[in-house]
Parts: sequence; C-alpha cells; structure tokens
Amino acid sequence: MRRRKFLKHCTSILGSLYATILAVPALGFLFSTLKRGKQTEKPYRLARLNDLEPGVPQRFTIIDQRVDAWTKYPSGPIGSVWLSKSQDGAVTAFSSTCPHLGCVVDYVAGDEEYFCPCHAATFQTDGAMVSGPQPRGMDELKTTIETIRGDQWVMVEYQKFETGIAEKVPIG
Ligand code: FES
Repeated sequence: MRRRKFLKHCTSILGSLYATILAVPALGFLFSTLKRGKQTEKPYRLARLNDLEPGVPQRFTIIDQRVDAWTKYPSGPIGSVWLSKSQDGAVTAFSSTCPHLGCVVDYVAGDEEYFCPCHAATFQTDGAMVSGPQPRGMDELKTTIETIRGDQWVMVEYQKFETGIAEKVPIG
C-alpha cells in the first residue's frame, strides 16, 4: 500500500515536471510572436549637419531589419525621410510616405514644394497641404542632434503612420 502511494506521488511529480518542460518553450514562442509584430521607433543616424545644404531638402533611406509576426527579413530599405535645414541651422524631418495612400512623396526644387506623383498631392516646404486628395500634411518626425566623434549628426525617430485619415496615428 505504501509502495503504491509512493509510486503515485512520483508519477504526479514527473507529470508536473513534464508539463512545465513543455510549457516554457510554448510561452516563449507566444511572447516572442506578440513582440515581433510591433515596430519600435529608434533614432536613425541620417546625415552630418554640415553636409545639409540650407533650404534644399534631401531624401535619406531608412535601412533596418523588417520583422512581421512570423518572419525576420534581412536588412533593407523600410522607408525614407526628407531632411531640410533652415538658414539658422534648424533641421526638420518629414516621412516621405504620402498621408493619402502611401506613395513616395518627391520634392520639386523649381516649385519649392513636395509633390506626390500618385494623385498629385502638393505640400509646402513646412509640410502643410497645398492641394490634392490628402487628408493631412506631411508627417513630421522627431529629430535630435548628436555629437559623435566631433561631428554633429542628425538623428531621426522614424515612424510609420496610418494613411487616408486626418489624424496622425502611429502604426505599431
Ligand atoms: S498617394 Fe499621394 S496623393 Fe495619393
């Protein structure tokens, strides 16, 4: 009788241990999947401040690893940013993604305005809407200046936003 009780106890302990061993990787997988779907904004080092010509916007590609819920892709372009430096040295960054339906917005130097070729949206150099179907102005991104080994670098917090709506709603 004592032996049977002991064996029953051992079986129960082994059963719990086995369930725990199975549960740990399953929970790890579940949490990593939830985490991977999110896009984290981080500052990207885009240009030396001195290399930007005042009053002439320049486009920079954002390179990073693209990650969705299941797959991690190798590093590649995930978007781009228009950087513009004013005469007093202040830097402004706009996402080049059109807030209408997501095409890439261009800059027309002769007209001194941003232009989206997909449905002819135009924007002022400060990102404000001029004409076209877009529901809002260009999406401004946060910039900071960081000194790295004696050079001043423009850092940009790249972020994607919902398109087709008047509010600026971050994605991820
Ligand atoms: S996507 Fe830019 S105007 Fe439509």
